[in-house]
Amino acid sequence: MNTDEINGENSDLSLSANRRRTGEGAILAIESSCDETSSSVCRDGKILSNFIANQTVHEKFGGVIPELASRAHMQNIVPVVDVALQQANVQLNEIDAIAFTQAPGLIGSLLVGSGFAKSLALALDKPLIAVHHMQAHVLANLIEDPKPNFPFLCLTVSGGHTQIVLVKSASDMQVIGETLDDAAGEAFDKSAKSLGLPYPGGPLIDKYAQQGNADRFKFPEPQIADLNFSFSGLKTSILYFLQNAGKSNAYKTELIATEEERQQFITNNLADICASIQHRIVTILLHKFKKAALQTGITDLCIAGGVSANSGLRKAFKEMCEQNNWKAFIPPFQYCTDNAAMIAITAYYKYLNKDFTDLSVTASARAEWDEKTSGE
Ligand code: KG4
Ligand code: ZN
Repeated sequence: MNTDEINGENSDLSLSANRRRTGEGAILAIESSCDETSSSVCRDGKILSNFIANQTVHEKFGGVIPELASRAHMQNIVPVVDVALQQANVQLNEIDAIAFTQAPGLIGSLLVGSGFAKSLALALDKPLIAVHHMQAHVLANLIEDPKPNFPFLCLTVSGGHTQIVLVKSASDMQVIGETLDDAAGEAFDKSAKSLGLPYPGGPLIDKYAQQGNADRFKFPEPQIADLNFSFSGLKTSILYFLQNAGKSNAYKTELIATEEERQQFITNNLADICASIQHRIVTILLHKFKKAALQTGITDLCIAGGVSANSGLRKAFKEMCEQNNWKAFIPPFQYCTDNAAMIAITAYYKYLNKDFTDLSVTASARAEWDEKTSGE
């Protein structure tokens, strides 16, 4: 459902017909870190609903416009929470705690969700749980069976982050590798933009790649130390490759191709270009993830975040794990891109630890990972 469809719907927050007694641990979660407004209800660690309103308003701008995102969150949040409660068949007065994404993300977007969650917690006199968005992506792997055993490794690949996380428990995680520049999702989206595809381009590259030959065009793999990543060189290489209509990956002061030749080259070779770009992004990711597994000796491996919805990554990840006798875990599609179910499951573990926050908590665009893991 998109913003336009839900605007104007009934926004009464307590519509459920059948009142039911809930056990301890019914949590209402809110996610609003970027351009999805989402709400989920979970009870005792089981997800009962996960409703997501996508914001279509950004498509024509080629990226998320922060002010428009905040405004859409404000329009969406009441009806989205209402639908999540209705789908879970839970009433607001049956909720035991309110959870929300506190960081990181777009500050205006985060403020809408955090303000709403804080008001609700105050009004209902229920505990408030602040959740780190990237930790929630990781714990999306604990929503459904089979679940990984601790310690496990997670490759978290989203629009803003690319991280290898060592997960010792639900509350003890350590980033052991990350991107030095662009995130994997940005590499997909910026490549797609160079190809003239609308935002977000990742899913479109995935779609066209399925018909293409991944060996047709060669893009470079950066040699980065340790378990870190870099995608900015790849982005530049793709840009020159397209500017030169496939004749060179290098910068030329005199462009080899005219604009018309560039367009023609893209039109004639779109599937192969997408497959080759996707192949390179996936190999960059998995070479480092394999290195992390070999270094740590950990054999339960997960992927998470929006880019883990990519069919090429999912397939290659499973193959890598099979070849090495490692266990592969991938969240269902609806828990890969931004969603409130992952906030709910993270909040559930915090709820068990009584890891609550007070109303003075503020949303933050950036958050040190350790602040949210070990300091509470
Ligand atoms: O986790 P997410 O929904 O939001 C952030 O926290 O950033 O990730 C969004 C990113 C976007 O860059 C989008 O293009 C990418 O995930 N993405 C994909 C696919 N689905 C979403 N990238 C490649 N293939 C996909 N199928
Ligand atoms: Zn995300």
